[in-house]
Amino acid sequence: MGGMTNDVRAVEWTGDGLRLLDQTVLPGRVEYLDVRDVDTLVDAIRRLVVRGAPALGVAGAFGVAVALLQAEREGWDRARRNAAIGRIREARPTAVNLAAGVDRVLPLAIEGAAAVAAGAQELLDEDVRGNRAIGAFGADWILARTGDRPLRVLTHCNAGALATAGWGTALGVVRELHARGRIELVYADETRPLLQGARLTAWELEQAGIPYVVQADAAAASTIMRGLADVAVIGADRVAANGDTANKIGSLGVALACEAAGIPLVVAAPWSTVDLAVPDGDNIPIEERPAEEILGWGGVKTAPAGAAAFNPAFDVTPARLVTALVTETGVLEVSAGVTPGRSDRPS
Ligand code: MRU
Repeated sequence: MGGMTNDVRAVEWTGDGLRLLDQTVLPGRVEYLDVRDVDTLVDAIRRLVVRGAPALGVAGAFGVAVALLQAEREGWDRARRNAAIGRIREARPTAVNLAAGVDRVLPLAIEGAAAVAAGAQELLDEDVRGNRAIGAFGADWILARTGDRPLRVLTHCNAGALATAGWGTALGVVRELHARGRIELVYADETRPLLQGARLTAWELEQAGIPYVVQADAAAASTIMRGLADVAVIGADRVAANGDTANKIGSLGVALACEAAGIPLVVAAPWSTVDLAVPDGDNIPIEERPAEEILGWGGVKTAPAGAAAFNPAFDVTPARLVTALVTETGVLEVSAGVTPGRSDRPS
């Protein structure tokens, strides 16, 4: 099942530092960034060297170990160390996993960097296991509703091995469907402006030998309305207690088209992405990114000089449009009223 895909490690601890697969240069180059200081990590998170909610959670957790090692090396006092950890925690606002990953290992800080790294490794291992379970639950749920036909699946952004500790959430479901011989074609939305779909999802699907096409984001609604997709499967950056779901900008358009066409919108996300402290989508902070990402590509300006841009990185799909939320413990049929806040979250 794509031996290579099992080797994709977005985030890895090397024993004395953090190694990130540099997602800004994929698929052209496979390069790693070794992170030994907080400034480099915060910059890497902001530039999307590491990205995707669960991968951010794991990077944040290992980032606490990076901060502790740097504090020791450079003789920081506690206040400076805590401020540095706070900067990691807040490097990007939307995916709850980042802050949650930091918070999860903070109690281990008193035991030192090695204990924190061990705690972060536990989070990483849990995420891989969780993704496998998400894949199986998601595939079961989809196949129970679509019968015997080969499936055409639409996905948006990248919720694959690169966005997690391994395997993937939405792409984990796709990988599982493929392993069961049920994928006819994946429509990968290119995902403007940073092309996570065209660059990263396509790279993963290529390596896994899963048939796919890349399409412009603007094609998604039409693909769905023309009956060319049987189901859309996407990831999430934060799911509110009522089931409202933040994901990459453009996900809402996919969701609206799914509703109009009467096909299911499946959100695949671990419980670590569910934020029960947030009642609904209005309370999910939405990151706004630099204008240059919209106004040009690869250093080349595509808009006139002086053009301004609006660049929200995420949107919120209301719970009523989320047919199913697939977690590592099973499937919640959110639009039918089974919301995360009313379900048992595993401890
Ligand atoms: O800006 P990004 O690339 O970090 O956005 C990522 C997404 O929107 C993913 O769909 C989401 O984090 C889920 S990853 C399993």
